[in-house]
Amino acid sequence: MRLNCSECGAEAAEGALFCADCNGLLAFEPAAPSLEAGALREVFRLRRSSNDPLDRSGVWRYRELLPPVPREAVTTLRENDVPLYAAKAGADYADATRVAYLHLGMNPTASFKDAGMTVATSHAVATGARIAVCASTGNTAAAMAAYAARAGMAAVVLVPHGGVSESKLAQTLDYGATVAAVDGDFDRALQIVRELDPQRVAIVNSVNPYRIEGQKCAAFMLLEQRDWRVPDWVIVPGGNLGNASALGKGFREAVALGLIDRLPRIGVVQAAGAAPFARLFRNGGVMQPVKAETTASAIRIGAPASWRKALAEVRGSGGTVSSVDDAAIADARAVIGRDGIGCEPASAATLAGLRAFRAAGTIGRDEDVVLVLTGHVLKDGGYAAAYHSSHAAFANHIVDARGETPLRALLDRVLLAHA
Ligand code: F0G
Repeated sequence: MRLNCSECGAEAAEGALFCADCNGLLAFEPAAPSLEAGALREVFRLRRSSNDPLDRSGVWRYRELLPPVPREAVTTLRENDVPLYAAKAGADYADATRVAYLHLGMNPTASFKDAGMTVATSHAVATGARIAVCASTGNTAAAMAAYAARAGMAAVVLVPHGGVSESKLAQTLDYGATVAAVDGDFDRALQIVRELDPQRVAIVNSVNPYRIEGQKCAAFMLLEQRDWRVPDWVIVPGGNLGNASALGKGFREAVALGLIDRLPRIGVVQAAGAAPFARLFRNGGVMQPVKAETTASAIRIGAPASWRKALAEVRGSGGTVSSVDDAAIADARAVIGRDGIGCEPASAATLAGLRAFRAAGTIGRDEDVVLVLTGHVLKDGGYAAAYHSSHAAFANHIVDARGETPLRALLDRVLLAHA
């Protein structure tokens, strides 16, 4: 597999993280498949019943489609093997009929970052790296810390001071990482990390092409669960735009391999206060960074690094980009909860986006839609608690049941409400 610049096409130098000619992001060019589509599908299917940790991983199961990593370097926590759930309350809320959630929050560290981190960490181990570094709004931090711990590497994360949920920080500390809170936002933290020497430290943000290779496997895992039936739309939240790029690459490669015969459209949804990509998609031109502000802290990002790659995937699939405000994200998150599924605010931008796309007629009522939920509800318990202490539309309140046996009356009331 060749590693090229995604912008000027130049072949990358050994160990580089950016193009030596134009400073663009690098990307792996897929190698010719060793097996035809039917045989590949059969290999993947059989691995689902194997007990080999590589086969059980929803990343390494597709290892024919990944850059080669020596087996002894692979660091896996059985990532990316997550459920696809029918969305009932979510579908009604968006006025759509065929909606499902791909819950990437059901990963070992409770976000989609694990899929990319297993490949980036394994590659770092293979190259003898001793320290992993990233900038993060919290989820990359937790994933990197866990995989580095498994691999016996040191981990240093740069987070925006005051900008990361308590649970994500606690998780990252648990896994033994050094957490450095910087004076500035995520974009500033990433800028600092990009200036480090990739020969000295493994930089595992999504500018690292190995991360993208792992995350593209979510496309294969989704398709496999649908018996390779292609949805009409796959909707993802957009922050730094690594994930939209990765999923788009995965679907494109699946078409090239003959695993599927068409692309799903990629829909990217940003938070209105952090929506430079939505503006760019509307107005054209190049990325104009913004000062990001949103309560969906995971996607509080104003200068997305992977915008060019993501733009190519969205355009190439006939997809679209939009933004939704924080109140819409908050309500959508609570509605997803009513389906018995817990996600963090950034993930709920997908349902809020679908509702807006339906209202605008961008997506038809009966189109087949998959919403990619990127993080688990427990990633930001404080946010959920605050929602339910508010008067928002789907807030659910704690009943004061102290004092004289009010329980019977309470049960009667609950039953009546469900009658
Ligand atoms: N959803 C969640 C839960 C995230 O944590 C992120 C990004 C995104 C969506 C956006 O994905 O950046 O690939 O467009 N979180 C990064 C982090 C920035 O540091 O954890 P993207």
